[in-house]
Amino acid sequence: MAKIESVNVKKIFKIKKGGNQYDELPALGGVDLKIEQGEFMVIVGPSGCGKSTFLDLVSGLTLPDSGTITIDGKPVTGPGLDRAIVFQQNALFPWRTTLENVEFGLESTNPDRDNRREIALDYLSLVGLSGYHNHYPHQLSGGMKQRVSIARALALNPDIMLMDEPLAALDAQTREFLQRDILRISKESHKTVLFITHSIDEAVFLGDKVAVMSARPGVIKEILDIPLTAEQRAEDDVVATKEFVQSRLILWKLLKEEVVKVQESQIRFQNQAVAQSPARGIGNGLINAVRVLTKI
Ligand SMILES: Nc1ncnc2c1ncn2[C@@H]1O[C@H](COP(=O)(O)OP(=O)(O)O)[C@@H](O)[C@H]1O
Ligand SMILES: [Mg+2]
Repeated sequence: MAKIESVNVKKIFKIKKGGNQYDELPALGGVDLKIEQGEFMVIVGPSGCGKSTFLDLVSGLTLPDSGTITIDGKPVTGPGLDRAIVFQQNALFPWRTTLENVEFGLESTNPDRDNRREIALDYLSLVGLSGYHNHYPHQLSGGMKQRVSIARALALNPDIMLMDEPLAALDAQTREFLQRDILRISKESHKTVLFITHSIDEAVFLGDKVAVMSARPGVIKEILDIPLTAEQRAEDDVVATKEFVQSRLILWKLLKEEVVKVQESQIRFQNQAVAQSPARGIGNGLINAVRVLTKI
């Protein structure tokens, strides 16, 4: 049985137009995806295709309009302690120290204060932040704050880590170090990981498998097995290996088709808006300029 299974999951957002009228925005168009226990699954897809919407559904923060998501065969009906989430923007409490932030999640489940402290210190050390337990979030760099968020999620000892572009706001070097740590920790602790990114290199480096999501309404267009071994991933020159380069190229081609679809629909949308606008002449000029710049 798969750890996480999504079967034909659809999500439609209703956007209020005014009065009692709503526009419907289909965000997910029938997502089918299986993630096995201990697997690192990455989802890539163009911006706005429904990646975060899907992750929210797996977390149980929202529910699908149709289709089902099951964990260990049981339908997801809400959030649970078996799943922890790390977002792009860390959600640390500014008035709590690093240690107190990591302890936070444990407070509802573990009544033993000393034990909570011990667990939190262990996880801070696991993410490379020993010695920073008395710092407040504003005293930490962006990368350190994300490390605290990851420690806080791990301290709950969830089976599943849901990570929504957790490294997207970081500089390139910090990002690479954290990618290596995330990979090491997820494998050592046998977590099942659903990781969202729009970086192809990050997807290839981290993923056992990479699922490519189509332009909105998102569906899983293709799932690619990444044939890198743990030994290859541990090397500094992993990006130069044949396996890495080939996987990156395949993903780039798949993703490019979807990004072009998004651009085309945006231009169609702009054209419609301009056709209905009194300032048509200026608008057409702008759109022609966009076309030339994007070579469409
Ligand atoms: N709560 C919401 N209400 C209305 N529309 C939403 C809501 N959340 C997301 N959307 C829309 O759904 C689409 C998918 O969003 P999202 O899942 O955040 O995309 P991604 O994470 O792939 O960039 C976007 O068009 C977005 O504007
Ligand atoms: Mg998103």
